[in-house]
Amino acid sequence: MPPRGLHPRNATVEGSKIVIEWDDEEQSRLHAIWLRDNCPCPECFHAGTGERILDTASLPDAPRPSSVRVDDNGVEIVWTHDGHVSRYPAALLRARPRLRPSRTRWRAGIRERLPGAQYQDIAAGGVALCDWLAAVDEYGFALLHGVPLEPGAVTRVVELFGYVRETNFGRLFDVTSVVNPTNLAYTGLALGPHTDNAYREPPPTLQLLHCLASSANGGDNTLVDAFAVAEALRVAAPAKFELLARQPVLFTYRDAEAKIAHRAPLIALDARGEVAQVRYSTRAAAPFELPDELVEPYYDAYQAFGRMLVSPEFQIMFKLAPGDLFIVDNWRVLHGRTGYTSEGARHIQGCYADIDALRSKLAVLRDQIDPQAARQSGP
Ligand code: OGA
Ligand code: ZN
Ligand code: ZN
Repeated sequence: MPPRGLHPRNATVEGSKIVIEWDDEEQSRLHAIWLRDNCPCPECFHAGTGERILDTASLPDAPRPSSVRVDDNGVEIVWTHDGHVSRYPAALLRARPRLRPSRTRWRAGIRERLPGAQYQDIAAGGVALCDWLAAVDEYGFALLHGVPLEPGAVTRVVELFGYVRETNFGRLFDVTSVVNPTNLAYTGLALGPHTDNAYREPPPTLQLLHCLASSANGGDNTLVDAFAVAEALRVAAPAKFELLARQPVLFTYRDAEAKIAHRAPLIALDARGEVAQVRYSTRAAAPFELPDELVEPYYDAYQAFGRMLVSPEFQIMFKLAPGDLFIVDNWRVLHGRTGYTSEGARHIQGCYADIDALRSKLAVLRDQIDPQAARQSGP
């Protein structure tokens, strides 16, 4: 968004571009095809919904202006191929592509200031909810205290920002130690850092675990920012990182009603080469089916990554008290727990949700709290 009072002084056509000179001596060089595609008139974009009506593919390959004119507020272009008139406000012409900066990677030092909030504050919505959701977005996890000690309360937390993601485990599930477990989570055994439902595609993007009872010995929870660990591995051992990012492995789950499997690399990269998803679960990993020459290098890389995930440099540990809850970005932050004994009671309720709804609610709250910034931030 240009500062108030910024005006174009002159605009000329140079080949397939329009060159705009501004009264602050800056210059913009915009492609004619981009300008025609983004004509903001109500024939090209719906004035109410903001959606594009114009079909980009139907434009000629190289639209050309028959005239370009500047006035105090912006630039007017008349197009040769169809005589269409486009009027561009200065703000649209000065906008720069916005690449979201990477979210803050964290290490164990974050234990000094764990992101968290009180349930009754965020239940009222507004700034407290906005800040809590912002922490989840930024760090990939947050704690919540004072959640009512009622079965199902975990789903009410989700309803503050989005929708429960139902799976074959139901709308929510109870994590307790049982006699005939279908899952190691339902024993007192320790659980190493893991992605929940690593065998599912896509795995749920959020998981919440709410503590209803915790008088057992042990059962402390662990969290680790697997993006921070993956980036550290990339620096320390690039070949190991590359192998984990390239080689798919199989993850599976089965019980009486479900049989689920998916093959994917442990580390997924986005189009910019940044770590976009980590899928790690030693419980759900099926026996590796690797080409002979990759068996030992793969174990090398897998163990190096697994050891870093539990190192005190990266992993944090805390004990949930009744009424505490934590939420994790299940594609980024791995969770686990230490083992616990059968004396005393431990009861956790969990459910899944998705982070697209959380980010949408966060954006809407930010717009409500600061409407001025909202007008400048665009969609
Ligand atoms: C789970 C899980 C952790 C715990 O159920 O997915 O990781 O604290 N549980 O019991
Ligand atoms: Zn138009
Ligand atoms: Zn889990």
